[in-house]
Amino acid sequence: MDDNRDANTMWGGRFAAGPDAVMEAINASIDFDRRLAAQDVEASRAHAAMLAATGVITDSDARAIREGLLTVLSEIEAGGFPFSKALEDIHMNVESRLKALIGEPAGRLHTARSRNDQVATDFRLWVRGQADAAIAGIETLMRALLGQAEAGADMVMPGFTHLQVAQPVTWGHHMLAYVEMLARDRGRFADARARMNESPLGAAALAGTSFPIDRHMTAAALAFDRPMGNSIDAVSDRDFALEFLAAAAICAVHLSRLAEELVIWSTAQFRFVTLSDRFSTGSSIMPQKKNPDAAELIRAKPGRIIGALVALLTIMKGLPLAYSKDMQEDKEQVFDAADALMLALAAMDGMVRDLKPRPEALRAAAASGFSTATDLADWLVRRLGLPFRDAHHVTGALVKTAEAAGADLPELDLAAMQAAHPGITAEVYEVLGVDNSVASRTSYGGTAPAQVRAQVARWREALG
Ligand code: ARG
Repeated sequence: MDDNRDANTMWGGRFAAGPDAVMEAINASIDFDRRLAAQDVEASRAHAAMLAATGVITDSDARAIREGLLTVLSEIEAGGFPFSKALEDIHMNVESRLKALIGEPAGRLHTARSRNDQVATDFRLWVRGQADAAIAGIETLMRALLGQAEAGADMVMPGFTHLQVAQPVTWGHHMLAYVEMLARDRGRFADARARMNESPLGAAALAGTSFPIDRHMTAAALAFDRPMGNSIDAVSDRDFALEFLAAAAICAVHLSRLAEELVIWSTAQFRFVTLSDRFSTGSSIMPQKKNPDAAELIRAKPGRIIGALVALLTIMKGLPLAYSKDMQEDKEQVFDAADALMLALAAMDGMVRDLKPRPEALRAAAASGFSTATDLADWLVRRLGLPFRDAHHVTGALVKTAEAAGADLPELDLAAMQAAHPGITAEVYEVLGVDNSVASRTSYGGTAPAQVRAQVARWREALG
């Protein structure tokens, strides 16, 4: 059949000619919005049931429409569905196929609605599903990190600031830092989900409709909390997609930081961890290489996800109310960002589950770089009553002495210690070891193994 005639049956009443080929190319969204097929059918089925319940169409027409829509969906899901560019988008492709299947009743489905509320509804349903998927993916990764945190609750490693060794911390504590970030990411998706969970359906083109529709009924059927309260807003905002992208961008940034640490930690220079073969690749020319490709790709994903957020913000900025076709450009951004985020979450989960920390290397690095200097300063405050600023100064002098001798702080003898401050006693060596250092940091949320175990227990309880 001639594609242009398909289009004219949908809206061609006042058109004498079909669209130019370039017009069709720029106008059609079917190549990407076919991903909304399931949501389109779900929303249309709810709409048809409501039209029958309110007496706008007959029960038998509604039945034919609702069954026919299921057939269309199963045809689409089976693959090879003849999507038509001339039919522009998923909405008209579905309706056109429905007409071919059931005939005249199909034409009654589009009563009291428009593609404007239709697409807003379909897209909300899709993004809501992705928010749920992101939450599930985040929780899975949180559990993987909790496993690492529990196993390494007292495994000493260097904590860094400026990527310089700062103070000893525990592996478990470092892993829990990401659990906290991910929990906030989860909260952002949940917040966005709660705000987006209102139904635009029935807003029609922008002004509502004169048919006696029941928007509460369709909202409930689609598991929305309520219908949106303003029909102009319902068809013209995409803030729900923006919030999803913002949450995704922040989450992707968190994942990229862990990915970067895995890249650094797995180098021959650090040797802190062994990455699983399952998430690494070799080099085609250098036989000795094992590259952390998955981590690098996770590190790169914020590029496209932040890009999607900026793109959609830019598309929406300055658009007059209500619907404009600009908004058709929302979908590819969100599809791509959602795919990238789900993949990054899954890959990171696999990497974290397989990750093997190397305790000896971590411990050796933790002890380097005068990492217990703060413990020494704190001891001077606690035992000798020095003001912290003076203790800082004395400790600085000792670090200088140790550096000049090519030694670490615990290797300085008592005479050298007392040269910096006569009050220092042998007891000072008890706080200089890395285990003593981490065990002493028992403040709430601190790095002490007991704190780490308490936080692991708290998160296990919270995750259920
Ligand atoms: N494909 C369109 C979109 O994604 C559907 C809405 C079309 N509405 C319209 N008035 N042309 O935005």
